[in-house]
Order: sequence, then structure tokens, then C-alpha cells
Amino acid sequence: MLVLGIETTCDETAAAVVHRASDGTGYIRSNVVYSQIAEHKEFGGVVPEIAARAHVEVLDQVIGKALVDAQVRLSDCDAIAAAAGPGLIGGVIVGLTEAKAIALAAKKKFVAINHLEAHALSVRLIGRVDFPYLLLLASGGHTQFVLIEDIGRYRKIGGTVDDALGEAFDKAGKMLGLGYPGGPAVESRALLGNPERFDLPRPMLGRAEPDFSLSGLKTALRVEAEAIAPLSEQDVSDLCASFQSAVLDVIADRMRVALRLLDDSVYRPTAFVVAGGVAANQAIRRMLEEETAQLGTPLIVPPQSLCTDNGAMIAWAAAERLARGIEDGLDFAPRARWPLAESTTPA
Ligand code: KG4
Ligand code: ZN
Repeated sequence: MLVLGIETTCDETAAAVVHRASDGTGYIRSNVVYSQIAEHKEFGGVVPEIAARAHVEVLDQVIGKALVDAQVRLSDCDAIAAAAGPGLIGGVIVGLTEAKAIALAAKKKFVAINHLEAHALSVRLIGRVDFPYLLLLASGGHTQFVLIEDIGRYRKIGGTVDDALGEAFDKAGKMLGLGYPGGPAVESRALLGNPERFDLPRPMLGRAEPDFSLSGLKTALRVEAEAIAPLSEQDVSDLCASFQSAVLDVIADRMRVALRLLDDSVYRPTAFVVAGGVAANQAIRRMLEEETAQLGTPLIVPPQSLCTDNGAMIAWAAAERLARGIEDGLDFAPRARWPLAESTTPA
């Protein structure tokens, strides 16, 4: 099965062609991502209206390149898929409408994909991972633990009550004058700093529910920064290192709670999977490797190109759904808000 997948829910315009063999093996034929970071940088974050316009401007070329790279024609594809949400509604409409138009004109099946479901299933595109597995989705817009029980059976077991992890990195970076996106900048400055100089809070540590709260940490960082302003280069590095150290402690604790919660149940996960842009952070990866090794749970972190937003994960989620006989009508409406649990399909 050959699927063209389109992703336009945030600031990446992406398209990919993915093959799924009948034994469930996946193969990425092409994966084209046009990042709009340059367009949003001067505003310190993603501007929805600019994002939607930029998607319109480049989507045709991105799709064309995905087909050329894959060395296939539209007529070779079995289905066209697009992320139908959740995300910035202008961008969602651009990708969804284009996918529907192509499906209609080329007489192909159409699949509307929940962006979060695509993140959740992307790990199965690179290798065999049995259900159920525990996913930590950590991106700029989302932070949640989801038990992936089967295709279309997703149980959220915890999430953030305020900021997403990536958002916390972005806000920290902005506050310290490191630009957008903050995650990579904070990580590299943290390497030069002293993680023990500032005693920042570890919100939710020890709580029985595997939830996150990050806005208090951000506020504490601001208070420390303001107290010693103007900041030297070393101050910024020390603040980054202290911030990242607090985040590491929080993730480790929340992950242990989530895994312990499932350990004695029939839902004992076969693996702990991390997806989303924050999974790019090497310090977080290292900590997760150590923690999961201690807990005896295999850790799987998909390659970076699959962790951040991309079209291959959309195409793959569609292929997994099509293999179960699930497809959508061209009247499928875009959704700005779309909790993963609502993507559940009847067994
Ligand atoms: O998944 P993604 O590409 O886009 C969505 O948000 O859907 O994730 C982007 C987020 C941004 O908040 C960015 O700051 C964060 O992932 N990020 C990082 C790192 N690289 C990207 N956060 C921490 N450390 C990093 N190295
Ligand atoms: Zn995403």
C-alpha cells in the first residue's frame, strides 16, 4: 500500500510517500519537510496567519518533491492522507483541502488523520513494536503520556496542566534572549553552565498522577534572572543548565510514576516510546536511557526526522488505518481541538 501524507498543522509544511507491506512493515519512500522557522523567528514564536499563508505558498512544491523523491506518480498511490487537526486551523484547512482535492481528482481513497495519532504510531514505521506501549509525546504544543493499546485505542494517562515541555523550553529561551525555538538553544547553553547554581522548583515531583506542570518553573526562572540582571553570558548558561536539570528531574519522576501505574495491570507496556521535538534533547535522551534501563522497560526513540512534525507519520497512520479498513469521507471537517482519545475507533 502506497500513501501520500500531508502535514500542515503548525510551522512545518510537509509531505511524504510511505509504503506499507501486507506484513505491516513500513518503508519511507520520501519525506520532505519545509520548516517555516525563518518566517516566524523575528516574532519569537509561530504566527498563525503567517503560517497559513506560508503553507499555501509552498505546499504544491513540497508535494511535488515528495512524489519525485519517491519516484512515483499520483496514480501509483492508493490513498491521500492529511492531518485534520489538532493545530492552527488556518494551516490545517490548507493541507486538508489540498488532500481532499487530490483524492477527488485522482480518484483515490482519503484518510483524515489526528496529528497526535500520527506521532503515536510513527514508531511502528521503523520497526516492530507490539501493543500496548507507553508514549510520552513531548512537543511545542503537547505533553502527554498515552497508552497505545491498538490502532484507534488510545488511553491518555497523564498530561500537562499548563505549558507543554517544548513550550517551556521556548519560553525559557525567549526570556534569556536566545531566540526561537528555545529548545536547541537552551540545550546547548546548558552544556556550558552550572546546573546547581540556581535552586529551581521541580513541580509535581512525587505526585501520584503522571501529570506535568511547568509554568511555575518558568516563573521561578524569571525571578532568578531578574534578581541578577543584567545577565552575563555565564549567568545565561547557568540559568539554562539549572532549568534543564529541573526538567530532567521532573520527566524522570513523571515517567517512573506512569510506568509504575501500568506495571501491575494487564496494560503493562512492551516499551516506552518518546516522540515530539523535545526528544531531540540529548540530555533528556541520556536520562531516559538510564532510567528505563533501571526499570527494565525497553526505550524506543524514533530518529529525529520522525520525532518532529513530518508527512511520513501522517501517511503511516493512514496506512495503518487503511489496513484495518478505515477510511474517511471528503466531508471530514478540520479540527483545531481534537483530543487523541476521540480518535478511538470501534473495535
Ligand atoms: O514536534 P515539534 O517539531 O513541533 C510541534 O510542537 O509539534 O516540536 C518543537 C518543539 C519546540 O518547542 C522546540 O523548542 C522543542 O520541540 N525542541 C527542543 C529541542 N529541540 C526542539 N526542546 C528541548 N531540547 C531540544 N534540543
Ligand atoms: Zn507534532
